[in-house]
Amino acid sequence: MPRLFFALQPTPAERAAISSALLPLVQAAGARPVHEADLHLTLAFAGDVPADAVPALQLAAASCATASFPLRLSRVDCWARPGVLCLLPEEDSFAKPMHRLAGTLADAARSAGIRMDDRPFRPHVTVARKVPRAAARTGPWPQALPAPLRFTADGFVLMESTGRREGPRYTVIHSWRP
Ligand code: 2AM
Repeated sequence: MPRLFFALQPTPAERAAISSALLPLVQAAGARPVHEADLHLTLAFAGDVPADAVPALQLAAASCATASFPLRLSRVDCWARPGVLCLLPEEDSFAKPMHRLAGTLADAARSAGIRMDDRPFRPHVTVARKVPRAAARTGPWPQALPAPLRFTADGFVLMESTGRREGPRYTVIHSWRP
């Protein structure tokens, strides 16, 4: 069964900027960086979906309005339990369409009979995994970045999580653009 979720993706240039801006911190922490191509912000997590339910999930997504909107990633946080370093978007007016879209996608998928994760939406972009415990204790977290990083959401994608042993990798199954 494919492991699926809806996400926003930064542009390729923004992904490169995010990776290079965070590299010193990731290296200092001794964490494993997320591949630049894989950077994303999860909107709604479906998890393992039976293959024959994927068309219904895609149809549900197609009923959701797409939009372009700019986000600003202004802080880096360390979540000790999953051992990740992640960027947090500023909760300004630009974040409203992101919250709306996350709710709309989850509702549409549920209406199509897909069971969605119902934990509260905590928008973040994971930039590194396997953060050693000692590094996670070197807070305080979250920390402000010297300058916010841009993240232009241009529609949304359905992604599949693959490759678990050596860390997850992600493939875009379908994109919906404005
Ligand atoms: P993470 O980066 O913090 O691990 C694929 O696993 C994507 O979905 C990742 O962005 C992951 O967040 C997120 N994710 C994994 N399990 C999730 C869940 N139960 N609810 C919401 N997002 C989840």
